[in-house]
Amino acid sequence: MKRTFKVALIGCGVISKNHLAALSKIDCAEVVALCDVKKEKAEARATEFGIDCKIYTDYIKMLDESTPDAVHVCTPHYLHAPMTLEALRRDIFVFLEKPTCISQGELAELIEAEKRSRASVCVCFQNRFSPSVIKALRLAREDGGARSGYASVFWDRGEKYYTESGWRGSYATEGGGVMINQAIHAIDLLCVFLGAPKALKAKISNYHLEGIIEVEDSCDGIVYHGDDKTSSFYATTAARGVNSTVVYMVTENHKIEVRNYKLFVDGAPVETDEHENYIGKACYGNGHDALIDLFYEAVSSGDSMPVTLENSRAALDLLLAAYRSEGKLVEIGN
Ligand SMILES: NC(=O)c1ccc[n+]([C@@H]2O[C@H](COP(=O)([O-])OP(=O)(O)OC[C@H]3O[C@@H](n4cnc5c(N)ncnc54)[C@H](O)[C@@H]3O)[C@@H](O)[C@H]2O)c1
Repeated sequence: MKRTFKVALIGCGVISKNHLAALSKIDCAEVVALCDVKKEKAEARATEFGIDCKIYTDYIKMLDESTPDAVHVCTPHYLHAPMTLEALRRDIFVFLEKPTCISQGELAELIEAEKRSRASVCVCFQNRFSPSVIKALRLAREDGGARSGYASVFWDRGEKYYTESGWRGSYATEGGGVMINQAIHAIDLLCVFLGAPKALKAKISNYHLEGIIEVEDSCDGIVYHGDDKTSSFYATTAARGVNSTVVYMVTENHKIEVRNYKLFVDGAPVETDEHENYIGKACYGNGHDALIDLFYEAVSSGDSMPVTLENSRAALDLLLAAYRSEGKLVEIGN
């Protein structure tokens, strides 16, 4: 019989809801502690999900006192690496929201810390586990693999989005703009379908929030994945009234499109097991449930994590290279 895992969560903002909803469906996970620097946010989430647990404002104290088996890190990007390092030092498994971290130096540090720990990290690229993406990948593989593709990300993010949560909009705390935050799932899927990026050319711009954010609101580029495979992308938060994400792949005989959480092949909709009652945005689908489930399976069995630190690298490499590129070719080496 599976043992019950004690679970803690840090950062009770927008996305914590998806995590707590998924955890409420997992029998072997018991939420024992919630932490937010704003105590009332942690208390509100506990009430909303009917969780009887301890509330903390200091995550170190929480890790030491509640001794969880696993912790979900749902905090601003610049805190991902330090919080994960503290958990790994205590042999606590980590379910880490995207992006893994905000620099290659941090990623290297995490990988080293994981080697020294009895615990490991799963990175939340939940869209890889949506039924549409799983089916799209299978179709692509059956047709010899994707040869080229594109991602387009059109979101609407105005000034309020950045002023509401102060960590957004700065390199120090968000690590970048649309690429590291909104486009990262689509960018990750380009790499899942076409392979890790070898080089790219990209340009970033801030079209509509100059003086309000220092990071990019838009980015476009072309990516070379090796073996003659290329992709291109355009991502913006300067669109109005829309929140749509498309990942489009060309195989020998087909054109495969994942539009938000829906799948289209050669233009026609394809049935998947995806259900409509996702929490949050259409482009997230229900991937959180699936991936969090797989995370606890891995914690329980000792198997490798469904998204390891190492295989979260491609998206981070790609977007950090886009930030450096200024329209010129940047090689992406390991
Ligand atoms: N996987 C996805 O599709 C998805 C979707 C949305 C957000 N996210 C990611 O989730 C993370 C959180 O995003 P969000 O939209 O929920 O942000 P948010 O600002 O709504 O929530 C972050 C929370 O962290 C808390 N916090 C900040 N510093 C803290 C600290 N030192 N200790 C404890 N709590 C602290 C804040 O008070 C806030 O409540 C980000 O990494 C974001 O990119 C992922």
